[in-house]
Amino acid sequence: MADQKKRALTGLRATGNLHLGNYLGALRPGLELSQSYDCIFFIADLHALTSNRDAAAIFGQTLDQVATWLAMGLDVKKHVLFRQSDVTQVTELMWYLSCVTNLGLLEKAHAYKDAAAQGQDVNHGVFAYPVLMAADILLYEPDLVPVGKDQKQHVEMARDIAGSLNALYGDTLKLPQPMIREEVMLIPGLDGRKMSKSYNNEIPLFCDEKSLRKKLMSLKTDSTPLEEPKELDGSLVGDLYRLFGPADGYTDLKGRLAKGGMGWGHAKEELFEAVNNHVREMRERYVELRKDEAGLKATLAEGAEKARALSNPTLTRVRHAMGIR
Ligand code: ADP
Ligand code: TRP
Repeated sequence: MADQKKRALTGLRATGNLHLGNYLGALRPGLELSQSYDCIFFIADLHALTSNRDAAAIFGQTLDQVATWLAMGLDVKKHVLFRQSDVTQVTELMWYLSCVTNLGLLEKAHAYKDAAAQGQDVNHGVFAYPVLMAADILLYEPDLVPVGKDQKQHVEMARDIAGSLNALYGDTLKLPQPMIREEVMLIPGLDGRKMSKSYNNEIPLFCDEKSLRKKLMSLKTDSTPLEEPKELDGSLVGDLYRLFGPADGYTDLKGRLAKGGMGWGHAKEELFEAVNNHVREMRERYVELRKDEAGLKATLAEGAEKARALSNPTLTRVRHAMGIR
């Protein structure tokens, strides 16, 4: 990271199999950013613990994510890819930040408020989540933090918390800018709602071809008889085809469906071809990479070393500022 590029940082929780929504909404935009920024990407396994109770699965899901980034072509020599829990500096910083964070600020957090409003059993991790996220960000002094709309409030809180610490102890922490993807790319799932693990409607990014086909064939469509004209606009098949099909493919498929005599089953078949073509090479690389656990662990170890080196100056500055010498 010797040149003058700006630094961008973002994290993705380790919470299960990655799906097409994660890919289009978070991973691919991250990869695109790595063309023009020095990027720090991490697998937020500590954040996953607020809800992921599957102790046996978290590390495997972490490795899945590493293999996915590599299969997509992230250059881990130029950028930093690491696991959150490998840099324990973050939990120390979280404490310092906790001591300058007003309870009132945390009570305003959407994630906590929603969970509490639904009468869920809210743990302290859910309540303190924004402080850990602030520590994630502030420790590495990024210029930009690219996130989806749902995370905007958390990045703003990180700025507020850094501002409180700076007001009390002098200019110690760098305030990051959120980079919000406003054009909410909301990828629909099998039932038409937002694709999400919580809705059980996801299409995995890297399942085998047969399962992918089966998933896509189960997409919700109306029951217009085969011979009748069909409208691709506004249909689930259409929404997904637009994202994965060839550039001129949408108009072509729309025209053929509108003529009648073509069933949704055929359209889904074409959708499967499009999605499968899109992910095939990446999936092949993924499958190979995922087998090499030692290699993935080595990637994480290298990332952790680079991340620790970046984190130490910030932590030392905060300790000194607050009188922990
Ligand atoms: P899930 O809803 O399946 O639990 P996460 O909340 O862990 O997914 O999502 C991680 C990131 O992936 C989010 O920050 C968001 O940017 C992106 N993402 C998830 N689902 C979608 C979707 N359906 N469309 C677009 N982006 C998505
Ligand atoms: N909270 C984010 C999410 O749920 C993940 C995350 C954790 C993150 N720490 C971060 C994102 C720091 C950006 C910066 O998607």
